[in-house]
Amino acid sequence: MNTTCKREFVTIALPKGRLAEEAVDFFSRIGLIERDLLDFESRKLIFEDNKNALRFLLVKNTDVATYVERGGADLGVAGLDMLLESAAEVYEFSDLAFGACRMSIAAPNGKHTFYKQNIKAATKYPNITKNTFASKGIYVEIIKLFGSIEIAPLTDLADYIVDLVDTGETLRKNGLSEVEVIFNSTARLIGNKALTAIKHSQVKQILSAVGEC
Ligand code: PRP
Repeated sequence: MNTTCKREFVTIALPKGRLAEEAVDFFSRIGLIERDLLDFESRKLIFEDNKNALRFLLVKNTDVATYVERGGADLGVAGLDMLLESAAEVYEFSDLAFGACRMSIAAPNGKHTFYKQNIKAATKYPNITKNTFASKGIYVEIIKLFGSIEIAPLTDLADYIVDLVDTGETLRKNGLSEVEVIFNSTARLIGNKALTAIKHSQVKQILSAVGEC
């Protein structure tokens, strides 16, 4: 039997929210899918494109790398922030250039420009926070939060926050300023490390479309 003509669905995990919409814009711009394939208003979480043998999963942004690492998805779109935080064993194929923002340390205006030895930092990113302060030789107590991180230093929960900054508006509106940018983040195309031969050749075609954009 000639297996070169066989096709399987290639599954791509997208992070629900703005990054998924930017990913769909991107994939439709390079001709991989029709723009209206994913209906973000519906409660559907799986969308299939039979013509191109593609399946899209809408998952939480913190879960994209897990789906890809464990083979629930073959490819995924994840922010560099999530990749570094999860330390998942996946291939990082391409920098897709959209979803640009930065991971920063911030504190109340005029305070804490110089780090003390023992500090408290509130964050959604405990691993990035731990590694960042460890590389400075500073002991940090991490306060893990799940959102509205900016409130933590205003209520003495923490001295600093480590969080994503996009426009900077949330910091400004809450009387905080950036002390230091840790890294710049963009969306990355990631892949499972154990693809079947058939999927491997389909993924190669997707990568070449992405590379030629
Ligand atoms: C993110 C991030 C900041 C904000 C930065 O929060 O955690 O709070 O956006 O954006 P800006 O610089 O444009 O103001 P998100 O909107 O995801 O909400 P959350 O705080 O509930 O996580």
